Amino acid sequence: MRVVAVGSGKGGVGKSTVSLNLALALVRQGRRVGLLDADLYGPNIPLMVGLTRDRWTESWTLARPGRQRRLAPVEQHGLKIVSAGFILGEDQPLGVEGMTARMLVRQLVHDVAWGDLDVLVVDLPPGTADIQQMLIRTVAVTGALVVATPQYVAHVDARKAVRMYQRQGVPVLGWIENMGPMRCPHCGEPVEVFPEAPEGRSLAALGVERLGTIPFDPALGRAGDSGRVLVTDGATGPVPAAFAALATRVAAALDRSP
Ligand SMILES: Nc1ncnc2c1ncn2[C@@H]1O[C@H](COP(=O)(O)OP(=O)(O)OP(=O)(O)O)[C@@H](O)[C@H]1O
Ligand SMILES: [Mg+2]
Repeated sequence: MRVVAVGSGKGGVGKSTVSLNLALALVRQGRRVGLLDADLYGPNIPLMVGLTRDRWTESWTLARPGRQRRLAPVEQHGLKIVSAGFILGEDQPLGVEGMTARMLVRQLVHDVAWGDLDVLVVDLPPGTADIQQMLIRTVAVTGALVVATPQYVAHVDARKAVRMYQRQGVPVLGWIENMGPMRCPHCGEPVEVFPEAPEGRSLAALGVERLGTIPFDPALGRAGDSGRVLVTDGATGPVPAAFAALATRVAAALDRSP
């Protein structure tokens, strides 16, 4: 099983959106895919895929730190999903640090009966602090992806994420530009939602390859909030196409990884 972590220096740049839709696109390409929502602060994946509490409580109510039990992922849209929200609840702030967080992460990673998977996509919490580093070590990442919006300030923060991975000895497969230029729905002209970072000061300057660009599309926000997904069988349009192309590149990079 290949484990691909999706991180960013900055919050709100689209890690969860990219993790979910990349995972769905890999499923469309015939891979067996798991999605681990490891955002201990804001586990959003259950909401984004339309999973309600009754779908996970049965197998997860005994999932308390220290209890030995193999937990089952919940299947939705062809994905095997596990979320920190299954244990913490989606509306409970994480009031624990250090030891308890470590136990929680171990449980999410090691106590889950994932079955045979080709790829496990891990949606990380924003930032590059201890908790992200501990997660990366615990999940034994094959390769890492960094999500950034086009603008310079996002790249400044994303560089930290690249350095965090490198320091941990995790190969950085590349970065993904999210919320890139969109077509105006009225006149068809390209709209630059964010200014483009200058070449010499972008992630490219660190030698990190751009694996894809996902255009800004309000439909992505609407889909996430209502638990529908855009990358379905036969879906057309710029967003499903962008994720399909990204999945091909990521799968190729993972296949090349030792
Ligand atoms: N390409 C896009 N076009 C339009 N909206 C997007 C796009 N990508 C993400 N969004 C929206 O931006 C918001 C932030 O996205 P998301 O939750 O995926 O970011 P995140 O990096 O996971 O955030 P956090 O750091 O809080 O975990 C969401 O409302 C999402 O629907
Ligand atoms: Mg997120």
